[in-house]
Amino acid sequence: MRVGLIGLGRIGAFHARTLAGLDAVDSLVVTDAVRAVTAAVAAEVGAEAVESPEKLLAACVDGVLIAAATDAHPALLRAAVDTGLPVFCEKPLAAGLDEARAVAAAVRGAPVQIGYPRRFDPAFRAVRGAVERGELGRVHTVRSTTLDPAPPPRAYLAGSGGLFRDCTVHDLDAVRWVTGREVVEVYATGSDRADPMFAELGDVDSAALLLTLDDGALGLISNSRYNARGHDVRLEVHGAADSVAAGLDDGLALQPVGPGALAPAGPPHTFFMDRLAAAFRAELAAFTELVAGTIASPCTVDDALETARLAEAAVVSLREHRPVRLEEIR
Ligand SMILES: NC(=O)c1ccc[n+]([C@@H]2O[C@H](COP(=O)([O-])OP(=O)(O)OC[C@H]3O[C@@H](n4cnc5c(N)ncnc54)[C@H](O)[C@@H]3O)[C@@H](O)[C@H]2O)c1
Repeated sequence: MRVGLIGLGRIGAFHARTLAGLDAVDSLVVTDAVRAVTAAVAAEVGAEAVESPEKLLAACVDGVLIAAATDAHPALLRAAVDTGLPVFCEKPLAAGLDEARAVAAAVRGAPVQIGYPRRFDPAFRAVRGAVERGELGRVHTVRSTTLDPAPPPRAYLAGSGGLFRDCTVHDLDAVRWVTGREVVEVYATGSDRADPMFAELGDVDSAALLLTLDDGALGLISNSRYNARGHDVRLEVHGAADSVAAGLDDGLALQPVGPGALAPAGPPHTFFMDRLAAAFRAELAAFTELVAGTIASPCTVDDALETARLAEAAVVSLREHRPVRLEEIR
C-alpha cells in the first residue's frame, strides 16, 4: 500500500523509518511545513517528497498518518477524513477540549486511529490480559508513571497544550484501557521549580494525579519532564489476589538501592523511541490493517476525546486546587 505521512519532526521522522520497514507498505509520500525537513526525511527513507498536505492528499495514497505539531491536528485530521481515506493521527486530538470535541464530531464514524502506543506495548498488553482474565481479583489500585529525561523545546511546549494534555494523556489512556473502567474524579497537583519557561507558558514540569474509577478503584499518576536517569514508563495494577507491573525491564530508568537490591541488567531507556520501539511498530502495523479494512480502529476518536476530558479535569483541578468530578466536564 501507499501511505502518506504529514509532519516529520521527532515522532514523524521516527514513524517514517518504522513505516519504511513494514512489509505492508510499498511506498511512502511525506511532507512537512519545513521543506528542508521534508527533503531530508524523504532521502533517508526513500520516500516521495511533496510540498504540502494538500498535495499529499492528492497523491493517490491509501492511508494518511498525521504526526505534525498538536495545534495542526484538527485541521489536518478533518482534511484527511474528508478525502475518505483511513487516517492515523498522533495524540492528542487537539490542544484544547473544545477543539477536540469539534473535530471528534466532524470525523466520528470514519476509520481513524489515534496514536496511543502503550496499547501496543507487549508488557502493557500482558497487564491488560491479567486484569481481563480476573487473575488479580478485585483491582484496588493502578499506578501509572511517565518521566521524560528532559523537557522538550519551548516551541514544542507552547503548542502542546501543557503537561496534562501532552504527557499525562498517555497515563490516562493506559488506565482506562488496561482496567476497562472509566475515571469519575480527578485531583491533580503540579509544580514548576526548574526552567522559568514552564511558568511563563502556564505549564508545570511535574505533576501528580489521584483518580477515582467508576468501580471505586484508585489511580495514581506521576509525571515529570526531568528524569536524568532516562525515560521511565511503568504501570502497576494491584488487586486483592495478585499484583502485576509493566516496565520493570532491563532498561528501567530507576536505580534500586539498599541491601539485596538488583540493578536493571541493561542501560536505561533514553527516550520513548527506544522504550516503546516495539509498541510503535505494532501500532503502525495495526494502522496498515485498518487501511486494508481488516480491523476496526484500535484507538478511536471517542477514546481520545474521553482522555481529553480527563486531561481537562486535571487542568481545572490544578487551577482550582480541588477534586473535579467528570460530569463537570461534559
Ligand atoms: N504517541 C507518542 O508517544 C508521541 C510521542 C511524541 C510526539 N507525539 C505527538 O506527535 C506530534 C508531533 O510531536 P513531535 O515531538 O514530533 O514535534 P516536533 O515539534 O518535533 O515536530 C512537529 C513537526 O510538525 C511540522 N508541522 C507543524 N505543522 C504542520 C503542518 N500544518 N503541516 C505539516 N507539517 C507541520 C513541523 O514543521 C515539525 O517538523 C505532537 O502532537 C505530539 O503530541 C506523540
